[in-house]
Amino acid sequence: MKQPHKIAMFGGSFNPIHNAHTAVASAFVKKLKLDKIIFIPTATPPHKSDEEMISAEHRLNMCIAAAENVKKSEVSDIEIKRSGKSYTVDTLKQLKQLYPDSELYLITGADMFLTLQDWKCPKEIFSLATVCTVPRNDADCELLREHEERLREMGAKTVVLDLKRMDISSSEVRKRVFYDEDISGLVDSKVEKYIYANYLYMNKSKLCYERFNKVIKARMGEKRYIHSVNVSIEAQRLAKKYGADVSLAKLAGLLHDCTKETSAKQQLQIIENSNIILSDVEKSTQKLWHSIAGAAFVRDVMGIDNEDVFNAIRYHTSGRANMSLLEKVIYIADFTGAERDYDGVDKMRALADRSLEEAMAFGLSFSIADLAQRSLAIDPNTVLCYNEVILQTSRKK
Ligand SMILES: [Fe+2]
Ligand SMILES: [Fe+2]
Repeated sequence: MKQPHKIAMFGGSFNPIHNAHTAVASAFVKKLKLDKIIFIPTATPPHKSDEEMISAEHRLNMCIAAAENVKKSEVSDIEIKRSGKSYTVDTLKQLKQLYPDSELYLITGADMFLTLQDWKCPKEIFSLATVCTVPRNDADCELLREHEERLREMGAKTVVLDLKRMDISSSEVRKRVFYDEDISGLVDSKVEKYIYANYLYMNKSKLCYERFNKVIKARMGEKRYIHSVNVSIEAQRLAKKYGADVSLAKLAGLLHDCTKETSAKQQLQIIENSNIILSDVEKSTQKLWHSIAGAAFVRDVMGIDNEDVFNAIRYHTSGRANMSLLEKVIYIADFTGAERDYDGVDKMRALADRSLEEAMAFGLSFSIADLAQRSLAIDPNTVLCYNEVILQTSRKK
C-alpha cells in the first residue's frame, strides 16, 4: 500500500477544539500540501480538576466532530491510550513506526513553539519532524521569527505561517459556556451541540431553565423536544392544581425523557456509572432504561440534587407504590401533554382534571394491558402502583 507522503501531527488538549484549531489545520493542509493531518488529543493529566479538564473521551469525540470539516484529517487516540505521561517525542516515534517512509510535521501553538528547546529530547523531535506554528497576535510574529532562528541553529526545520488572527481560545469557550453566553461563532455547530448535550463546562451550582432547555434541545430530535416542553407545561398546570412544587414540575417535565434518544448501550453505561443495580425485570425491559438513565444523568451529570425530581424521572414509565405528588404529576403529564393524540387521550385528560389517582389508574391499566398484549414483563413497581391507586379510588367511590 502506498504511504501518505506528508503527515502532520496536531497535538493539544483540545479542551474543547475550536474554530481557530480547525482553521490552522486547514491552512497547513493547504500550505504544506499535506496528505494527512492527525489531531491527537493529549491524555488527561491526573491532577487536573473536572472544571479545568473534561474526560479524554469527550475531548476525543469533539475532535472527531470538528475534524469532519478539515480536509485530509483524522483523529487519533494514541496519546490517550498510552499510559503514563505523554511526550511528543514518543508520539512522533510511534508515527514514524506507522509511516516509516513519510515526512512528518508537528503543529504546535505559539507558546509551545517558544519552549520547544525545553521539551523532552528536543533534538530527536527536530530529527523526526518539521515544527510548525502560527502567531497568536502581531507581537508574536517578531518573537517567533527570532525563535525560529534559534531552533534552526539547534538543527530544527521550521515553518511559521502568518495566518489571519482568530481571537479564540479554549478557555474563552469554557468561560462563555459557564456564564451561559453564546459560543456559536467559536466552535463547530456539532461541537456546540456536543457540549450542551453532555453538560460540559456548565455552571452546576445554579439551576437555570434556559440552560436545561439548551441541553434537552441538543440531546433529541424536534418531535421529542416538543413533547418534553409540552410535558413541562402540563406538569406545571397539574402541579398548580394539586399543590405540587410548580418549578420542580417544570424542571422534571422538561428533563424526564433526557436520555430517550440515547443509545441503549449508553443508557446502560450511564446507569452503571451511577452505581444503580437493575432488577431482572428492569434488565429485560429496555423501555424502562431511559427513565432510570435519565434520572441518573440529571442527578450525576447535570448535578441537579433533588430527590423528588430524581424519583419523578426514575419512575415516570413504571410508576411505583407511594409516589409523591410530583411523581404522579410527571407520570400523568407524560400522558396528557398537548401533542398527545392516542385513543383515549380525552378520557385521560378529563380524569387528570378530576383526580390524580383516577388518572394514574387509567394510565397504568393502559400500560399493563399493552405490555401483557405484547407478552412483555410487567415491572412489580407498576403492579404495586396499580393496586394502590385502584384500592384508593374504589375506597373513595
Ligand atoms: Fe419517557
Ligand atoms: Fe415522555
